[in-house]
Amino acid sequence: VTPEAALVDSLIASIPDFPEHGVTFRDLTPVFADGAALKALSTALTAPFEGRFEYLGGLEARGFLIAGAASIVTGAGVLSVRKAGKLPRAVLSQEYSLEYGVAALEVHVDQLPVGSRVLIVDDVLATGGTALAAANLMERAGWHVTGFAVALELDGLGGRAKLEDRGIETFSLLQY
Ligand code: PRP
Ligand code: MG
Repeated sequence: VTPEAALVDSLIASIPDFPEHGVTFRDLTPVFADGAALKALSTALTAPFEGRFEYLGGLEARGFLIAGAASIVTGAGVLSVRKAGKLPRAVLSQEYSLEYGVAALEVHVDQLPVGSRVLIVDDVLATGGTALAAANLMERAGWHVTGFAVALELDGLGGRAKLEDRGIETFSLLQY
C-alpha cells in the first residue's frame, strides 16, 4: 500500500444502510475536504497514465471534484461529462442502467478536437455502468479513451470486467 493510498483510505467513511438497508455507502467527502489527501489522490490516479492524455473526463458530480484537482496537478483540461439536460449546446447523449430505471450522461459534441486523449476519472467504480457510458460517449465523439482512473473499486459488482471487456485500461487506488 502506497502512502497516498493509505492516506485516502484513512479518510473514507463507511455508512451502513445508506441509501437503503443492506447497502454500505462509501463516502469520499472527507477525502475531498482534506487538501493534502485530494492532491495525493489526484497524483496517484493520474501517474499510471502520465504522458498519455490531454484531458480529464470528469463524471458529474463526484468525478468533477477529482478532475478539477487532477487538472491542477497535471496541467490537463477538464471535459465536463454531465447528467442529462444540463449542457446548453449540441450534445451527444448516452443512456445507462441504474438499479431502477435509466439515466444519461452528455457531452458537448464539439468540445474537444477529434483524436483528443481523455482519461476518465471518478470516485467509485461499482457496476461500471457510469464509466462505460462515459467511454461510449468519448468514442462516439471521436475522442480516444486513455483509461479509467477511480479512487475506490467495489469488488464483486462486475465493474472492472465490464470495462476491461471493452479494452478500457482501468486503475483503482483502493479496492473494497
Ligand atoms: C456514483 C459514483 C459513480 C457511480 C458508480 O454516482 O459517484 O459515478 O455511482 O456506480 P456504477 O459503477 O454502478 O455506475 P451517482 O450516479 O450516485 O451520482 P453523483 O456522482 O452525482 O453523486
Ligand atoms: Mg458519480
